Amino acid sequence: MSYLGLDDKKTAITVKELNILLADYHLYYQKLRNFHWNVIGKNFFDLHEKFEELYDDAKLKVDEIAERILTLRYQPVSNFSEYLKTSTVKESPSDLSDSRMIETLLEDHGIILKQLRKVAEVADKGGDEGTIDLVGGYIGELEKTSWMLDAWKMKTNDTHKTL
Ligand SMILES: [Fe+2]
Repeated sequence: MSYLGLDDKKTAITVKELNILLADYHLYYQKLRNFHWNVIGKNFFDLHEKFEELYDDAKLKVDEIAERILTLRYQPVSNFSEYLKTSTVKESPSDLSDSRMIETLLEDHGIILKQLRKVAEVADKGGDEGTIDLVGGYIGELEKTSWMLDAWKMKTNDTHKTL
């Protein structure tokens, strides 16, 4: 049992997944900076600002994930060389069209959502409510951001699903 009253072996499994999530968020953060700087075209003003809003949010999450790992009494992975090896999110070129940037971010959200759900699953097995609480909030927020990016790329004659 740890000082938090959590099972050590189960916590180690959760931390492994949290470190992958940390790496994913770092790559995602830097991609948003890349797109913030390099977006061009008629949507420049909208997207330049939106990407900044998203990377500011990702930066906060990077810190919260790392500090959750420390709270669990483990060391967060802290170097970019390690993030590049660990992350499922991959780097992107800087010369993408605005639509392709949005599609790329939606693909990355899919990867991050999968990892967030994985963290929630292993944390649940370890009775680690603190981690579940952290990532649970992220899941809803990222799903909402995905909806907005998806709406951005829809055509006005695309329709919503009805029950
Ligand atoms: Fe800027």
